[in-house]
Amino acid sequence: NKKGPTFDIAVDPLEGTNFVANNLPGGLTVLAVAEKGNLFNAPETYMNKIATGKIDKGVVDLDFTLEKNIKNISEFNNKEISSLTVCILDRPRHKQIITKLKELKVNIKLISDGDVLGALYVSDPKYNVDMFLGIGGGPEGVLAASALDTYECHFQGRFIFDNEKDIYEAKSMGIVNLDKKYDLSELVKGDSLFCATGITNNDFLSGIKINNNEYKSETLVTHKDSSFKKIVKNVTSLNE
Ligand code: FBP
Repeated sequence: NKKGPTFDIAVDPLEGTNFVANNLPGGLTVLAVAEKGNLFNAPETYMNKIATGKIDKGVVDLDFTLEKNIKNISEFNNKEISSLTVCILDRPRHKQIITKLKELKVNIKLISDGDVLGALYVSDPKYNVDMFLGIGGGPEGVLAASALDTYECHFQGRFIFDNEKDIYEAKSMGIVNLDKKYDLSELVKGDSLFCATGITNNDFLSGIKINNNEYKSETLVTHKDSSFKKIVKNVTSLNE
């Protein structure tokens, strides 16, 4: 009736294209929903990201040195530095960070793709990831932030505009301060809903199983305001 509420919807229909192309773990379909104007309209650029579990304000920050962030999270989590694990995309652009982490004797969980899940590892101690770091897709950052908000995690991101085309597009999208560091609450305001369905298996979800015209799926659903976090299983029959 066109009188209902209006929403922002962010989607990544195929997060981890390489995973799915090669039938490797990690492929997802991702969606986030918030009230209109509440999901940051992320430009298609890279974003420098940092995520941890629930921490006090000022413990970890994108503007701190790597050493300071590691020292602070070690103290906050009451874990030796050599017991910490940092997840990061395996990219040449992260060589310096990876070298430094090795020098510090921090354990590294290198992922070849899929930094939405990479960031989500910090959501639960059972994944044994204390911090997610590094440069990945900007829109993926907003999607991950939506889920991490329900888990009360810490997330910051800064878009990277390093060429004329991206700078032009950012400005035409209304981004004035190109160097701005965004806190989670600026990327996802208010209430939000996040859904990630496994396409191929991953540490969180089983992938799609097809058998006798039946499609079985698993979807991680989070809802901020009700603190809802659940894996929803679904079976769809092609004959339905
Ligand atoms: P696609 O599925 O769109 O290829 O994204 C996979 C991904 O690994 C994202 O999770 C990540 O944010 C981005 O690519 C990193 O980009 P790049 O591969 O250029 O380093």
